[in-house]
Amino acid sequence: MAKQSLPLPEVYQLIEPGPVVLVSSMMGEQTNIMTMSWHMMIEFEPPTLACAISAGDYTYDIVKKTKECVINIPTEELAKKVVGCGNTIGRDIDKFKQFGLTPSAAACVRAPLIDECYANFECKMIDSKLAAKYGIFIFEVVKAWIDRSQKNPRTIHHQGNGKFVVDGEIIRLPSRMK
Ligand SMILES: Cc1cc2nc3c(=O)[nH]c(=O)nc-3n(C[C@H](O)[C@H](O)[C@H](O)COP(=O)(O)O)c2cc1C
Repeated sequence: MAKQSLPLPEVYQLIEPGPVVLVSSMMGEQTNIMTMSWHMMIEFEPPTLACAISAGDYTYDIVKKTKECVINIPTEELAKKVVGCGNTIGRDIDKFKQFGLTPSAAACVRAPLIDECYANFECKMIDSKLAAKYGIFIFEVVKAWIDRSQKNPRTIHHQGNGKFVVDGEIIRLPSRMK
């Protein structure tokens, strides 16, 4: 196979986890939303996940202080709003208003759910030891919601530089992974 050298800054584009999610948060009376694609599951039960949130992001400050957020799973219909939330800074604007998204009350955290999203995970931060060095926060999902009326939810996956892949064909194989 004739392979070429891949520039190291492009590595992430091939291993990008998905789906792209929206992180909603709240500090005082101010809500915020950021777009995030760098996340990974760590444990099934309780569901635990790691999120990379840059120190420059307003969300970083909110999560560090409030120790909670909601991870919202958008589908392709929301793609433009998802990118909008990732291209703007919540210190300056109300992203719920700016992008026509609807906040609704969560059960276990103050941060709002984003109504338009297919699923919402209420999260409590359980570890921030890697935050200063890598921007990594570990969250436990304490409550999860899903809209089961959506029969074909297609999530979006970022491949870098504004290129996204939308979920497609489903194949089923006898995998031992739950
Ligand atoms: C598709 C996409 C994926 C992104 N993924 C991440 C991510 O995983 N981690 C991160 O820190 N920023 C990520 N960003 C950038 C943040 O969403 C962006 O810096 C945003 O302005 C932060 O908002 P805030 O300052 O209001 O918190 C992503 C942006 C886009 C468009």
